[in-house]
Amino acid sequence: MPWLACAVLASLLITEGTPFDSAQGKPARTPDIHYTPTRHHIADAMLRLANVTAKDVVLDLGSGDGRLPIIAAQKYGARGIGIELDPRLVELAWRIANEAEVANRVSFIVGDLFEADLSPATVITTYLSSSIMKQLLPQLRGLKPGTRIVSHRFAMPGWTPDRTMQVDESELLLWIVR
Ligand SMILES: C[S@@+](CC[C@H](N)C(=O)[O-])C[C@H]1O[C@@H](n2cnc3c(N)ncnc32)[C@H](O)[C@@H]1O
Repeated sequence: MPWLACAVLASLLITEGTPFDSAQGKPARTPDIHYTPTRHHIADAMLRLANVTAKDVVLDLGSGDGRLPIIAAQKYGARGIGIELDPRLVELAWRIANEAEVANRVSFIVGDLFEADLSPATVITTYLSSSIMKQLLPQLRGLKPGTRIVSHRFAMPGWTPDRTMQVDESELLLWIVR
């Protein structure tokens, strides 16, 4: 297919069926942590650590370009949700999800992770900071029993992980809500 036709098709895919509002610009407020993506093989290891299957709803808090929900949908058949303060990253996530042909299995929402409804999730993924994990601790501990939480690198004070895994220089931590 000529490149122009590809570009038109891609733009149609991006605008169709996604809640992206191109009038949106910068985040509504300063993000609590800046954007650094989890490398793809580490994102995949996080999903394997949580034993993600097609029955799961994987919710990434501060979802960046959406790679964790997208891999969860594409490789494991799960449903994915991303909550992200920066609308430009949410736009990018929708674009990648469309290209990966999983836009019908994922949802990306411009929003504040501290105000997000976490109740649909069976798996929560994070790559945030020690202080954000500390703030999230009461909410995460209160999720429904069996919910798995996987953090790239950052622990939660006073809550011993059920499992950890080392991938390159990164420690991955898994908690299962009791
Ligand atoms: C370290 S990046 C991780 C991105 C992605 N989860 C990954 O692992 O590739 C953290 C993300 O959190 C977002 N963020 C920071 N504060 C936020 C907030 N209060 N609500 C939602 N997203 C936030 C940033 O914009 C950034 O994209």
